[in-house]
Amino acid sequence: MDSLQGLKRTHHCNMLDEANIGANVTLMGWVMRRRDHGGLIFVDLRDREGVTQVVFNPETDASVHKKAHGLRSEYVIAINGVVCKRPEDMENPKLKTGAIEVMANALFILNTSKTPPFPMDEDEDISESLRLKYRYLDLRRPQMVKNITLRHQVCQAMRGYLNDNGFLEIETPMLTRSTPEGARDYLVPSRLNPGHFYALPQSPQLYKQVLMISGLERYYQIVKCFRDEDLRADRQPEFTQLDMELSFVDEATIIDLMEGLISTVFSNTLKKKLTTPFMQLTYQEAMDRFGTDRPDMRFGLEITDLSDIAKESGVSVFKQTASSGGVVKAINAKDMGGLSRKELDELTEFAVSLGAKGLAWVKIKGDGTLQSPIAKFFTEAEKTTLLAKMSARPGDILFFGADVKEVVCKVLGELRLELARRCKLIKPDQLSFLWVTDFPLLEYDSDQGRYVAVHHPFTSPKEEDIPLLETNPLAVRARAYDLVLNGIEIGGGSIRIHQQPVQNRLFKTLAISDEEAMDKFGFLLEALEFGAPPHGGIAFGLDRLVMLMAGMDSIRDVMAFPKNAKAQCLLTQAPSQVSHMQLAELQIKPGWTED
Ligand code: AMO
Ligand code: AMP
Repeated sequence: MDSLQGLKRTHHCNMLDEANIGANVTLMGWVMRRRDHGGLIFVDLRDREGVTQVVFNPETDASVHKKAHGLRSEYVIAINGVVCKRPEDMENPKLKTGAIEVMANALFILNTSKTPPFPMDEDEDISESLRLKYRYLDLRRPQMVKNITLRHQVCQAMRGYLNDNGFLEIETPMLTRSTPEGARDYLVPSRLNPGHFYALPQSPQLYKQVLMISGLERYYQIVKCFRDEDLRADRQPEFTQLDMELSFVDEATIIDLMEGLISTVFSNTLKKKLTTPFMQLTYQEAMDRFGTDRPDMRFGLEITDLSDIAKESGVSVFKQTASSGGVVKAINAKDMGGLSRKELDELTEFAVSLGAKGLAWVKIKGDGTLQSPIAKFFTEAEKTTLLAKMSARPGDILFFGADVKEVVCKVLGELRLELARRCKLIKPDQLSFLWVTDFPLLEYDSDQGRYVAVHHPFTSPKEEDIPLLETNPLAVRARAYDLVLNGIEIGGGSIRIHQQPVQNRLFKTLAISDEEAMDKFGFLLEALEFGAPPHGGIAFGLDRLVMLMAGMDSIRDVMAFPKNAKAQCLLTQAPSQVSHMQLAELQIKPGWTED
């Protein structure tokens, strides 16, 4: 093995082009590919920045050429050589360095490598568990380097913007008390206080509010949050937020500042110019028109309520549903009348898997007549009203949902997405930002038999809705807002309650007793009595934002060391068993269950 001593890298592997021809250079990196062409040996040398072709010619130096014979994938080498123009027909326009190659006159083998379990230069079909186990190799792949670099650039752009706008970066503790986001906590036992536990923060929510009461006015932090929930592609047990809180602001100011932040992030990193202001919908509009509180606005396929006309319908399931408190809604899938019977059966199966009882459909034929298993039940008048209300034209197909509201919203909301996927309605690179506002403050939890906060119990109700706290809690709207990008919630926040009396009224509605409130959040309630300014904030899911910017399908692809679906780290094998000694010190006995 050779030593690095005295060697100095002159360029990285994505730097050299025709302007450098004739220069003597030293490159360092990993052997990505080695091709032996009888006389000449070609090595694609890769470092973090890119790839440069290095050529070993027996006529330049026979001993160096001989040494190059021994190179294998992922060996770590340094080479010294002269930059030359590649022969015309050997140029590679796909590579930034594709017009040149380096004729090596010295080779230093800095380290060898075992044969890697998967190639570094291909993207397809590597099992994810293998990638996570050998994450150090996976992170060498150019796509991953690109993702991690983008993440870094996004953080830099965020910090720059927030620094320019008067925010202070302040850290908050990881060993803390349970916070109010409502997921299950990760607990950490305290050795010095046996039987007592810290909770890892689900977010810095309470601390950031305390910072506002302290008068620090504008806070931000790029911070780890921990939630013990079931995982999916855009959910990890430990994830990162860009967390912010501001004093003396209302919703409009926060929304405006955040649009500036997101625009700066996109222009500084992807060089994309966003159009502001972003669209806005109230929660109610979003649910009514798209069946979800995070609609994907890159395509239409809106939902229309037909409950009124359904009450008089000749289709018995529509009539019954609409007359017994349910709803009947439909989507006009424009120009999708060509869907085959097989596809319609698949879509029906899809709807049923989401809880629907069926998926009635109606095709409008070229002559304006209807083709449908239920066509014969429509009266002439009903048909005319239906087509007018749905703006239906020949070539269109209508899909119906009849059930309780929640089921219809879910089924038609998901059907929209499925139709868009099947009919390729989404253009690549399309970005569609949407603010959803005016969420309900409360929902009823039938398991607990009481109202619970939709966001967290410090979210302020709209001033005009405060009297409804006692009379009609479910109608109270929150001063809360979410930012949705392409159907994914990338951020959420609210204006907070800063006056004790309102907070107490809300706790009463939530059936949280004074003792319980004091026990859980006493420090914040007390702080609110010492001159709390009006304040509000928001947190963005950094992983989700970067995932969308990088065009990835999973947040795991933009995190250096993510966990698998069972919340395990396959690299370090965490979580792991611990010794009896450690448990004894913590006074914890394993194997205990509730019953
Ligand atoms: P919220 O719970 O909405 O708000 O979280 C803010 C954003 O964090 C992201 N996020 C996640 N990302 C990956 N994995 C997860 N398990 C996960 N959970 C949430 C989402 C979400 O929009 N304290 C409040 C913010 C505030 O009110 O200021 C909070 O945490 O993109
Ligand atoms: P049926 O009368 O059960 O044969 O259903 C006639 C058509 O209506 C079929 O295409 C079913 O898939 C559909 N359908 C049945 N129940 C519902 C429902 N609750 N909502 C929407 N479509 C339904």
